[in-house]
Amino acid sequence: MFMASRIQTRAFSASARNLSKVTVLGAAGGIGQPLSLLLKLNPRVTELALYDIRGAPGVAADVSHVNTKSTVKGYEPTPTGLANALKGAEVVLIPAGVPRKPGMTRDDLFNTNASIVRDLAKACAESCPEANILVISNPVNSTVPICAEVFKSKGVYNPRRLFGVTTLDVVRASRFVSEIKKTDPADENITVVGGHSGVTIVPLFSQSRHPDLSSNAELIHRVQFGGDEVVKAKDGAGSATLSMAMAGARMAESLLRAAQGEKGVIEPTFVDSPLYKDQGIDFFSSRVELGPNGVEKVLPVGKVDAVEEKLLEACFSDLKKNIEKGKEFVAKNP
Ligand code: NAD
Ligand code: LMR
Repeated sequence: MFMASRIQTRAFSASARNLSKVTVLGAAGGIGQPLSLLLKLNPRVTELALYDIRGAPGVAADVSHVNTKSTVKGYEPTPTGLANALKGAEVVLIPAGVPRKPGMTRDDLFNTNASIVRDLAKACAESCPEANILVISNPVNSTVPICAEVFKSKGVYNPRRLFGVTTLDVVRASRFVSEIKKTDPADENITVVGGHSGVTIVPLFSQSRHPDLSSNAELIHRVQFGGDEVVKAKDGAGSATLSMAMAGARMAESLLRAAQGEKGVIEPTFVDSPLYKDQGIDFFSSRVELGPNGVEKVLPVGKVDAVEEKLLEACFSDLKKNIEKGKEFVAKNP
């Protein structure tokens, strides 16, 4: 009897630990839909909550027919819809907001997306203050500081739980390198640091197995402006959605692996970072070790060469402005 109840308790606690509700805000969009599909295919996700200002129930009904174990529910902007989508979430992914059109920078999205992200961050701070928040909406360099300020204003800010998703930059870097070196991209592990727009994106090829590439200006430009290639090719119909969905799903999977006890899970991500705080840069993307508490350890940038030193200088000045802009927005528009 005693043994049976002990076994039962153990079985319960093991499965309770592995119950993972994941919420997508902006789930009916270009990123939101394939991202929701990829999350439905992830056995670590047990409950999928899909919220959008329009169309989430339809996406949820569709995705819910995929024959994996997780449950899927769509939520609408009713008085309780957003709060119910967020309650109990372990991971919240935010791809809500407008994408670029040709000729625009990510910063041109600020006026529209800042208030969308601010309002969604308020809802997260109220309904799931302990969730891991993964911000995809651009400009990431500013929307992440916006979330931080909102959480601070509500007294629930935990810097270990807030992530700007920069995974797509390393996904691109490894693919582009493999095209040049005729290798399998899975074998290419390229560190990319900084932020997520133009010159704030800094690939560190000197640390890869192809240090010669650090003087390849064309490749560096391609990694920094890879998003533009897609915006141009889509010709007004938006920006990267499918590769982004893959990158976002990878980041969510890494967080869940770490939350479920796996050690040594490392992802590049834009976080509240100690690395350059002395230079007034509060957020920075670098390799981060993930754990059950979110950010376990922000890893140092490491040795860089002279070319990369210059790239970092250019990154700092833009990044600082982008971060300030986000903070000021919340101060002026709480
Ligand atoms: P999209 O227009 O196709 O989809 C956005 C979705 O957000 C829409 O379904 C819309 O209804 C929804 N939405 C708008 N306001 C909302 C709100 N208040 N609450 C909930 N949902 C809301 O755009 P997309 O192509 O999916 O891109 C979304 C964002 O992701 C853009 O800002 C884009 O720049 C960014 N993005 C970031 C990365 C990255 O690497 N971090 C990569 C690609 C795109
Ligand atoms: C990307 O890198 O593809 C995204 O940030 C979308 C964009 O605007 O380029």
